[in-house]
Amino acid sequence: MNKKSNINRIGVLTGGGDCPGLNAVIRAVFRTAHNHYGFQVIGISDGYRGLIEKKWKTLENRDVTNILSLGGTILGTTNRDNPFKYRVENKGKVKYKDLSGRLIKNVKDMGLKALIVIGGDGTLRVASELIKKGLPIVGIPKTIDNDLSCTDVTFGFDTALNIATEALDRLKTTAESHHRVMVLEVMGRDSGWIALESGIAGGADVILIPEIPYKIEKVCDFIRERKKRGKRFSIVVVAEGSIPVGGTVTIQRTVADPSMPYRLGGVGNKVGSQIEELTGIETRVTVLGHVQRGGTPTAFDRILSTRFGSTSVDLAMEGKFGHMLCLTGEHIKYVPLTEAVGKLRVVPADGDFVKTVRRMGVCVGD
Ligand code: F6P
Repeated sequence: MNKKSNINRIGVLTGGGDCPGLNAVIRAVFRTAHNHYGFQVIGISDGYRGLIEKKWKTLENRDVTNILSLGGTILGTTNRDNPFKYRVENKGKVKYKDLSGRLIKNVKDMGLKALIVIGGDGTLRVASELIKKGLPIVGIPKTIDNDLSCTDVTFGFDTALNIATEALDRLKTTAESHHRVMVLEVMGRDSGWIALESGIAGGADVILIPEIPYKIEKVCDFIRERKKRGKRFSIVVVAEGSIPVGGTVTIQRTVADPSMPYRLGGVGNKVGSQIEELTGIETRVTVLGHVQRGGTPTAFDRILSTRFGSTSVDLAMEGKFGHMLCLTGEHIKYVPLTEAVGKLRVVPADGDFVKTVRRMGVCVGD
């Protein structure tokens, strides 16, 4: 490999939970870097793990053909591998080691001029630590949770929102036929954007989000009141991170993962059982789960992903490393990565969205 091609070489990786639109970014990075600027583009497998274990390949045009509308990531991803606390197994014993030095050496040996890191808060937090150690990184925000600071929206969110809204529309017709309460648990981790916005779009009667601790009695009073007014069904959307007043999040299971030691899940069933017990109205629960993360991205997400991917290469060309791309109004801009990570963008409890749902007569559990 000659020196020139070494210099004109950039890497791209996807980290954290997957979401619709990742492939559209990879395609845009490739087409801009390779077809427009003439760079070589290295696709790194399974996020940071690929950089530690030297798993990557040079991307070709055929690798990015027909992937614009494809969900997931052709590169693979993982939401477990933090190079600063990397899981190493030796003779059945598990240890967590700092392998960031190995990662940095591998990147340098590869001759990467830039590394485009597509990830959520966890992946980008690691990126900001790697930048401090000299890696030339440009970050691109992704997550269905829409909880990253400094950007109006992350790609993946619009698709998840539409899936959750469609689920609510479908639950409504069966709820109405059977005169039931239907509870839908959606993702979002510690933020309630998916629940809140799908609840608005899907006309939910009750919306529970982590930012507003709920009282189950209030929810039940509201449902009873609806019944008295002749409304024989109710639709409840619950964010997975919702918490009762004075309580804690509902955990599905704990896992051996130092960066995220538990998995959320189960609050929908908890709320559903309580509603049935306290109101006597037959209640069913649907947990939407990873359906929200899979499949075809919406047109909005494909466009945002393409703009992010293409602009990230310009930033790399200009040497503007240590930044994350963001959407501000109609414009693609960039902010220092350190400003964007570590502080989640949650739903303001007294903001416009919540004010609007209250005016629509929706119960938010308080
Ligand atoms: O952050 C995205 C997200 O989908 C959250 O909404 C959810 O809590 C989590 O990832 C689930 O992650 P996993 O892939 O480990 O099930």
